[in-house]
Parts: sequence; C-alpha cells; structure tokens
Amino acid sequence: MLQITGLTHSYADGHTAIDGLDLTVPDGELLSIVGPSGCGKSTLLRCIAGLIAPTAGTLTLNGAPISGVPDDLAVVFQDYSRSLFPWLTVRDNVALPLRRRGMGRGERRAAAQEALESVGLPDAGRKYPWQLSGGMQQRVSIARALAYKPSLLLMDEPFGSVDAQTREDLEDLVLGVHRTGKMTILLVTHDIDESVYVGDRVVVLNRSPARVHADIAVGLPASRDQIETRGLPEFVRLRAEVGRLVRGGAKVPGAAPAGEAAGPDEPDADAAPAEGSGSELLAKAAKPAKKKSPAKADAPAKSEDASAKDDEGTAKDEAAALDEAAAKDEAATKDEGATKNEAVAKPGSGTASKAAGKTAGKADPA
Ligand SMILES: Nc1ncnc2c1ncn2[C@@H]1O[C@H](COP(=O)(O)OP(=O)(O)OP(=O)(O)O)[C@@H](O)[C@H]1O
Ligand SMILES: [Mg+2]
Repeated sequence: MLQITGLTHSYADGHTAIDGLDLTVPDGELLSIVGPSGCGKSTLLRCIAGLIAPTAGTLTLNGAPISGVPDDLAVVFQDYSRSLFPWLTVRDNVALPLRRRGMGRGERRAAAQEALESVGLPDAGRKYPWQLSGGMQQRVSIARALAYKPSLLLMDEPFGSVDAQTREDLEDLVLGVHRTGKMTILLVTHDIDESVYVGDRVVVLNRSPARVHADIAVGLPASRDQIETRGLPEFVRLRAEVGRLVRGGAKVPGAAPAGEAAGPDEPDADAAPAEGSGSELLAKAAKPAKKKSPAKADAPAKSEDASAKDDEGTAKDEAAALDEAAAKDEAATKDEGATKNEAVAKPGSGTASKAAGKTAGKADPA
C-alpha cells in the first residue's frame, strides 16, 4: 500500500507545487490522476518515485518510508524522449532493466521482443530510438516498463503522443497487464474519458498547489471494452462528473476527504517548465553525471540533494537520483558489447545518455 500524508513540495525557487496532499493507494489498484496543467501531477509522481524529497509530509510504501527510488518500481515519464539510451537499440533499451530480474541474455531479449510486439512495434527492435517517431519512442518507454513487470508502475501521460487508435490499444494493454500482473498503477492523464475507462478510481487534483480535490470510485465492470464501456450510462455520468471537477466544480457528496476547492487560474507562465524539450533536458541531465560517483549516489543522498537541485530542472533531479543504477547498467551494457553503439553517441560524450540511463536504469528501468 502506498500512503501519502500531508505531502508538500516546494521547489527551490519557492514555488509550492504540492501542499498538504493526502492519498492512499491500495495494492493492485489502477488509480487515474487528473488535474489542470501545471497543478503538480508530475511533481507528485516524482515524489512517489523518490526522485525528489518532500518538503513536508510522509510517503510510505508497504509501511516503509520512501527515501529513495523504491525497488520494483517503473516510471513512464511524461518526457519519454529523454528516458531512452540513444546508443542502444530499441530492443536493448527494453531489455536492459531485466538484468535486475536475474534473467539471462536470451530470456531478456525474448521478453523485450514480446513487450515491443505488445505495443505494436514488432519490427523496431534493431532500430535506435532516434530513428523512431515521438509516438513510437513513447511506446518503447511503455514496453520497457511493462517488460519489467514492476509491482508499482507510475505513468505520466503515457499515451500523449500516440494516435487515437493506438491510444485505445495501449489503454487496453495496460488494463490487461494490470489484470494479470497484479501491479499497482498510477496513471496521470489529461484525458478525462481515459481516466474513467482505465481507472478503478479517479483522483482529481485541484489547481496548484496540488491537493486531492475529489476522489471518485469507478464502479464500472472490471472487464472494459472500448465501445461497450464507453456507452454505459454510468461511464457517461462519471466522465461528466470528473470533467466538472477538473474544471473546478464542487466536490461530490461522499467524496473522500479532499483539499480546498479549486483556486483561481494560474498564469500560463507557471506551467510545467521545459517539458518536451528533449535535447535541452538531456543537456541538463548530463551535468550531474560528470561529477557524481556511483558511491555517492545511493538513495538517501539523492533525496537530500534533491531540493537544492530543483531550480536546475527536473531532468537533473531525476538524473542525479539514479546515478547508481546507471553506473551499474553502464558497466553491464559494456559487457554486452554495446561499446560499438556507444561510439555512435560519443559526440555528446555519452554523458547525456548516461543521465537518461539513470532515469531509465532504476525508476524507468532500462
Ligand atoms: N524544477 C522546478 N522548479 C520550479 N518549479 C517547478 C519545477 N518543476 C515544476 N515546477 C512547477 O511546479 C508546478 C507543478 O508542475 P508539474 O510539472 O508537477 O505539473 P503537472 O500537473 O505535471 O503539469 P502538466 O499537466 O502540464 O504536465 C508548476 O507550476 C511548475 O511550473
Ligand atoms: Mg506533468
């Protein structure tokens, strides 16, 4: 069980993104999280992933405080473009984290291929991420997370860059994996219909700083169908209710204890920074890789350092948080003969890729 109590996160520039958020997620739940742009959804996921430390409040996973990146966690980041190693093939990107599962090389490759097929990319394995479209790269990130079979999966706008048909297929894929894999999934989405379609429950966050504005159980049949489920009167009612709440409507009677009602609109200038700017973020992410040694990148140190790094961008937070995993993965990758591919990415000195690998290496395990 994931238990969040009084979570507050203020960035180093003084901006409070989350203020006193309470949330409990039972094991095995698929929780949809919705809320206005810039309200703090990604910040919340980064706190849960142990990538940034709370300013106040507590997060526990199965009773243990989250003080670094939890084991058995995977994250599909909103900015998927910086979470793949550019010098590894798509298949190797997906297979890389499976080392942590103790799987042999052949087994890893077979699992990676299977995951790629499940996201509709059966022929992409030999390509490099930069040879794929944005939507395809996003699907590779999803494949990597699903192949890892984590017990806790955090997905931040995982289907934002794919076409409508593929999006529906991926929603059903996540539902299928959730049913069979018994994993807990937190899925952030801007798509209200999607939040209801995939969710066991929908949590609506209010405008920044984030708190839980409403908490809605989705009482739809567990088996969902894109046509039938979306045509059910209960689905139509729920999507209208969630839509109203996201736009700042009052809480429904009987909703779980939530924060205050939505506040006034934030200025656009306060929207999430720098997201979507892959190369810029990679460049930022590269910085801590140069100065960090694996030894100082253990989990508690990451969180202690996190607030000081906030003003330098989230990519850097994530990168710094995952140095240790990257160091291990990097060494292992070289074992597997990736040296040749690495040379392809050398012009950037490989540091950006290393940083992406930190992200991928443990939280987004590739
Ligand atoms: N590193 C940072 N330093 C300072 N402020 C930040 C940082 N990262 C995010 N913020 C601010 O915190 C608030 C929440 O950002 P966050 O990215 O969590 O929002 P979000 O709900 O995920 O938005 P979106 O739906 O657009 O992805 C925003 O006002 C954003 O400007
Ligand atoms: Mg976000």
